[in-house]
Amino acid sequence: MSVLKDHHAFVTGSTQGIGLEIAKALCEAGAGVVLHGRRTDGESLRHARSQNWLPASVPIVLGDLTEPMPQGPLDVAEDALRVNPNIDMLVCNAGTFIDQPFLEMDFHVFDRTLKLNVYSQYVLIQHFARLWVRRGIRGRILLIGSINGHLSEPTHVAYDTSKGAIDAMTRSLCVSLAPHGIRVNGMAPGLVRTPLTEPALQNPRAKQWMELHTPNGVVPGAEVCRGAAVFLLSDAAEHIHGQMLLVDGGMSVWQQPDPPPEWMNLPT
Ligand SMILES: NC(=O)c1ccc[n+]([C@@H]2O[C@H](COP(=O)([O-])OP(=O)(O)OC[C@H]3O[C@@H](n4cnc5c(N)ncnc54)[C@H](OP(=O)(O)O)[C@@H]3O)[C@@H](O)[C@H]2O)c1
Repeated sequence: MSVLKDHHAFVTGSTQGIGLEIAKALCEAGAGVVLHGRRTDGESLRHARSQNWLPASVPIVLGDLTEPMPQGPLDVAEDALRVNPNIDMLVCNAGTFIDQPFLEMDFHVFDRTLKLNVYSQYVLIQHFARLWVRRGIRGRILLIGSINGHLSEPTHVAYDTSKGAIDAMTRSLCVSLAPHGIRVNGMAPGLVRTPLTEPALQNPRAKQWMELHTPNGVVPGAEVCRGAAVFLLSDAAEHIHGQMLLVDGGMSVWQQPDPPPEWMNLPT
């Protein structure tokens, strides 16, 4: 199935986790792909290159998307365009979270989170959108949000704020860019197993708790994000603009806490 044949994607933060799975899916759907990672010490590259599906010809650009701002993300965008000038799809995936109770939160945690999760996306999208408008390219943008754009956690004020901003940015950029033929959508995963979340999931009680609070009972691997990414970037989603698709096992629509019905003396 080559639904993305003749398209070229730049996927940020794609040396591991969700970004890597999305890059793989886009590659398999026929798109040319440029990967990206932050660490310049070779670790990111080693990890991405260890994936046996990755053709050696797939380029990987490296660079921090937060420092300096805005030149860091601009340099990364230019590097990506240098290795593939035909990029017409941008997946803004690189992101992070830092766990810290609000009352103890250091301002720099908030600042660093917003810089990567929000500011860098703004800079990258504006750079690509300006280029596409100049060249008359009908580009496609996919922002990676999170269930935390909808539901909050007490030690995640910075992350929740940043992902709420991504929800709003998806809608706002849709309205700004659709008239230029550029399609903007988002995908919001629930908890999935990646190097970012692995430490938390190593505690079996935490994993069990998450499974119990997800309607389909699954804490999946990052491969669950593949289909939604391909769909939203493909012609099949031609008339879908400004939407955030939740890929969360139903977690976002479940009113909790909610004991099993057999524990409750409900009228039948
Ligand atoms: N995992 C989940 O459960 C989950 C749920 C909802 C949403 N998300 C979102 O999905 C996205 C990917 O998450 P993930 O779990 O796959 O994360 P991950 O495993 O930590 O991968 C993050 C990727 O982003 C890159 N990156 C990190 N900091 C960077 C920086 N300052 N500049 C440039 N690149 C940077 C990393 O490169 P290096 O390896 O070189 O550092 C890596 O390639 C994030 O936006 C996250 O918020 C994740």
